[in-house]
Amino acid sequence: MIVDALRVVGTPLTNKVMAGELSRIAVRAVRQRPPEPRKAGTGTLVYPFDPHLAWAAVTYARTPTRVAWDLYRSAAPRLEPLYDELADDVAGDARGWLRDGESISVTVGNVDRFAAGERQIVGTVKNAIVDGCARRGVRVTVDPDAPDVHVVARLDDDGAMIVCVDLGGGSLSQRGWRLDHGAAPLREHLAAVLLMLGRYDPRADVLVDPMCGSGTIPIEAALMARGAPRLVRGVPPGLSRPAFDVVPGARAAGAPPPLFPPQGGAGPVIVGADRELEALVAAKANAGRAGVTGQVVWQRADVAHLDPDDVAAIAADAGRDARAGLILSNPPYGERLDAADLRVFYGALGDACRRFRGWRGGFLIAGDVATVEFERSFGLRPAIKKPLSNGNLRGYFFGYELS
Ligand SMILES: C[S@@+](CC[C@H](N)C(=O)[O-])C[C@H]1O[C@@H](n2cnc3c(N)ncnc32)[C@H](O)[C@@H]1O
Repeated sequence: MIVDALRVVGTPLTNKVMAGELSRIAVRAVRQRPPEPRKAGTGTLVYPFDPHLAWAAVTYARTPTRVAWDLYRSAAPRLEPLYDELADDVAGDARGWLRDGESISVTVGNVDRFAAGERQIVGTVKNAIVDGCARRGVRVTVDPDAPDVHVVARLDDDGAMIVCVDLGGGSLSQRGWRLDHGAAPLREHLAAVLLMLGRYDPRADVLVDPMCGSGTIPIEAALMARGAPRLVRGVPPGLSRPAFDVVPGARAAGAPPPLFPPQGGAGPVIVGADRELEALVAAKANAGRAGVTGQVVWQRADVAHLDPDDVAAIAADAGRDARAGLILSNPPYGERLDAADLRVFYGALGDACRRFRGWRGGFLIAGDVATVEFERSFGLRPAIKKPLSNGNLRGYFFGYELS
């Protein structure tokens, strides 16, 4: 069956955050408020396909990991009927998403429940697309390494095979600026999720990450504050499909403009601190590549010495006060620390944070032991405790009103 949907995929339990971010971006970038999405599980939103919304999502959204254009859906239970249905759909598809002479690659995901192996599914989907296009007089080749279009086939919640174009051409979490990273870097899209969950408002909040490692949270905050395009360089190949010809921004030469360019006056105040010099060297290099040098103040410090007066002085230098702010971080969660060490460390972190009266705090803590110790030792009741995994580790986002 031919379908036409925009699929926005992220970390489980982040649907609300992704929908909120995309709504704000779409209003600003393409002057439209997206319709209410259908939720497919806890980390996937499905909208009616609209090239303007799709372009805005790929170009500016920071919280998803993938944005895809769903083209075909098949409930066929085996390879042969899958091939037949898909080849017929492609042959009868007037959308022209592949041009004569272009190449595709095909990958699969979440196909364990299908009655064939991954390689066989990849081969069948490739053949059906190549043969279906040939019936329309469009020659398509296969190039796994540098395709014009990256096709993905995956089973949806109902067990049907969805064939889609991966519009971002890979993981959207990788922005291209983080080449230096420390021992446990936070994935970039998760930093953006934390900023949304912490309700970061760059006009009102000073932002401090006192355990910033390679700088992911401060750098994402600086980029989010100006609505910067997600990629440092290059246009994802999916956006060169003819469907995007109607989007003026998609045809513009050069990098897309930021959504919230500096207006003059005081800009955001962002501080990244860590006790490891090596981490700060990496963070500064990453900030340079991200184009936010000078927008983050980096400090070498132990979190136990985090001082509101120092932060107020940094804000004053930038022409801002520090009455409101957000301490946002993913602290160490136990690689080299046992439960007793974690208790002492999280207690000291809580003591330091409570000096920031009137501010908010937000922390991603992963791992069962760390979560228990954090909640017990931080010293305040969380206003928000939201399940949120960090990679394979189950965890929580804890949000606090600091007082
Ligand atoms: C989980 S990592 C943070 C990763 C970071 N968000 C990133 O994306 O790279 C925790 C960081 O806390 C820092 N750290 C550990 N103990 C600290 C302390 N007492 N004071 C300040 N930083 C500390 C470590 O050096 C490490 O960089």
